[in-house]
Amino acid sequence: MNFKSLINVGLIATTLLGVGCTSSANNRGYSKDAEINTKVEMLLSKMTLEEKVGQMNQYNGFYDATGPAPSDGDAKNKYEHLRNGWVGSMLNVRGAKEVRAMQKMAVEESRLGIPMIFGLDVIHGHKTLAPIPLGESASWDLEAIKKSAQVAATEAAAEGINWTFAPMVDISRDARWGRVMEGAGEDTYLGSKIGVARIQGFQGDDLSANNTIAACAKHFAGYGFAEAGRDYNTVDVGTSTLYNVIFPPFQAALDADVKTVMNSFNILNGVPATGNKWLQRDLLKGKWGFNGFVISDWGSCMEMMAHGFAADLKEAAELAANAGSDMDMESYAYVKHLSTLVKEGKVNEADIDDAVRRILTVKYELGLFDDPYKYCDEQREQELIYHEDHKAAVLDMALKSVVLLKNDKQVLPLDKSQKKIAVIGALADDKTSPLGSWRVASDDNTAVSVLEGLKNHNIKYTYAKGADVSVGDVGFQIPVTINNTDKSEFAEAIALARKSEVVVMVLGEHGYQSGEGRSRTNIGLPGVQQELLEEVYKVNQNIVLVLMNGRPLALPWADAHIPAILETWQLGTESGNAIAKTLFGDNNPSGKLPMTFPRNVAQCPIYYNHYNTGRPTGGNGVFWSHYIDESNDPLYPFGFGLSYTSFEYSNLKAKVDGDVVKVSITVKNTGKVAGQEVAQLYIHDKAASVARPIKELKGFEKFELAPNDSKLVEFELTSKELGFYNNEGEFVVEAGDFDIMVGTDSQNVSITSVTL
Ligand code: NOJ
Repeated sequence: MNFKSLINVGLIATTLLGVGCTSSANNRGYSKDAEINTKVEMLLSKMTLEEKVGQMNQYNGFYDATGPAPSDGDAKNKYEHLRNGWVGSMLNVRGAKEVRAMQKMAVEESRLGIPMIFGLDVIHGHKTLAPIPLGESASWDLEAIKKSAQVAATEAAAEGINWTFAPMVDISRDARWGRVMEGAGEDTYLGSKIGVARIQGFQGDDLSANNTIAACAKHFAGYGFAEAGRDYNTVDVGTSTLYNVIFPPFQAALDADVKTVMNSFNILNGVPATGNKWLQRDLLKGKWGFNGFVISDWGSCMEMMAHGFAADLKEAAELAANAGSDMDMESYAYVKHLSTLVKEGKVNEADIDDAVRRILTVKYELGLFDDPYKYCDEQREQELIYHEDHKAAVLDMALKSVVLLKNDKQVLPLDKSQKKIAVIGALADDKTSPLGSWRVASDDNTAVSVLEGLKNHNIKYTYAKGADVSVGDVGFQIPVTINNTDKSEFAEAIALARKSEVVVMVLGEHGYQSGEGRSRTNIGLPGVQQELLEEVYKVNQNIVLVLMNGRPLALPWADAHIPAILETWQLGTESGNAIAKTLFGDNNPSGKLPMTFPRNVAQCPIYYNHYNTGRPTGGNGVFWSHYIDESNDPLYPFGFGLSYTSFEYSNLKAKVDGDVVKVSITVKNTGKVAGQEVAQLYIHDKAASVARPIKELKGFEKFELAPNDSKLVEFELTSKELGFYNNEGEFVVEAGDFDIMVGTDSQNVSITSVTL
């Protein structure tokens, strides 16, 4: 392939991305395995309309609701519906014994005995928890992330689960949105790679194995662009953002053979995603050739009434089914109305058949027809839950997820022989918050706390709480709204700090201050923690701030005053051990931010790959794109993260070579200890038919270097990285000048250019 010829013919090629264009609306079946397709057809031919609709119906279990519980008493009919064969799937039923009992009803008491598929939000581990997804993403380590998803799948499958509602591949640029903790951050390139790693980890090479589960790319589409970062809010985005930012992680998920896709709660440019035919039928299943099935989000079919799109539940069912939403989660819309709608000619039975084929295919591929109880072995469950190997894997993941934000005068790592170490902050003694949000199967109080981690590593310290993060009951269904205002324990903490050599302050958000339904307008330290930090600073400036949080925080004061800051997100089960190892140099931090940290919440949405505007700079004048009371710059840019060693970048080269651009740069470890670095490649298409962002990540490599060692890092840019989607949704590569940038983060880069 030659760039020139591509450009001359005005390349329009979705095929370049390998997403294909085959229409999947066919009767030949959806599996690569012809035998499965035949079995699906045979079964389908025996099913009544009601049984087909039943496959498209998913009910919540009888506990652990992860959405608003139904109010109209529908739940009471669930057993009867199960026996009638009107339930294709359940969510939030877990435990080998519990799943077996439910499966038995479907398999042994319904007419055709079709097994159910059991779904659960296995987001960052099941019982043994890895860091929250945003934290894992900071590792930029795709193998470790894949392994982490494997561990999650192994434990979940041992508890009867065969389908996870993960990965969330929504790109988001707004730290106010609580669900940023569940994604891979703000960048579509990194987010696509991480989404694929997670899918590969969950699904493995053999979906029918008893330690793999079907994955679900969610939420299609645009959910991460909720206005003002308020969860479930309106999404209104233009074509360029849709095609270049929001869609690519879903396309990558399809390339990785993801078995299911979840649509989303939000309205997208006026049409709810669940009732959006263009999104689901035309694009996803049509142009992109998706062969799996689409699940609605919790009650999202019913919510189309509140959106002002469907007049009543019956119309909601009609709109969703016609739009290609194959399975209804907890709206009771399909089970109540779909058969009638078919009889009335408002929904085609062929479309019902299409949905059922998709659902049955995934069930066959999971091996559920061979053995519906294959995931229900209580002895296996006992052996695998909290397995030591899983702890080792999540510890490894946690170590790789830590980001060093500041380290003036090499305060870190701390010396183990240091005598007077004070530890301050309620989160240091917390065994639940570090588990983070979105952990439906996990047990409270199972994280290694920071204090325990220090003890495990024989570190002597004295502890004072200083202040709580929040007060009152908290939990998955109970929002943390009440911030603590109690300063009665400040005095003890200040006195301790005064007589200590170094103060480790563990501050941040409660584990349930991020996640679904947890948007914030203030993204500083909750409660009186900021005040506590400033009071302690007055008596001892030698502070190491250990942050625990589920989203980027705006902490300009801390950045200006505190010498060392370590971002630890919520690191999961092994939190305290990972933090102790990092504080004392047994782990050299190598994480890089997957999301920009603002100085001020009012900068949100803030992201590195923005457009330039017509007035990017202004000299001394006022008429340029800026704030009069705050810098445009972030506090910490995307891709940023320090190390206990230092890296030097030199000799950047880029040249066009046939159909690729070859890029190389030398990276040297100029410090005193070994360390890992993530070299990041960005491009800027300087003039294009649709303006391009000032910088776009198009490659990265993570590697380790011993002191004084160097490495030649090489990248190849193909048309896939150099092109973009125009406003007709066509993929194009255009001639012209490109800046090529490589560096340690999105701001600190060497720059050269090539002409295509
Ligand atoms: C609502 C969330 O938006 C979705 O991501 C989740 O999978 C479902 N609830 C099921 O818990």
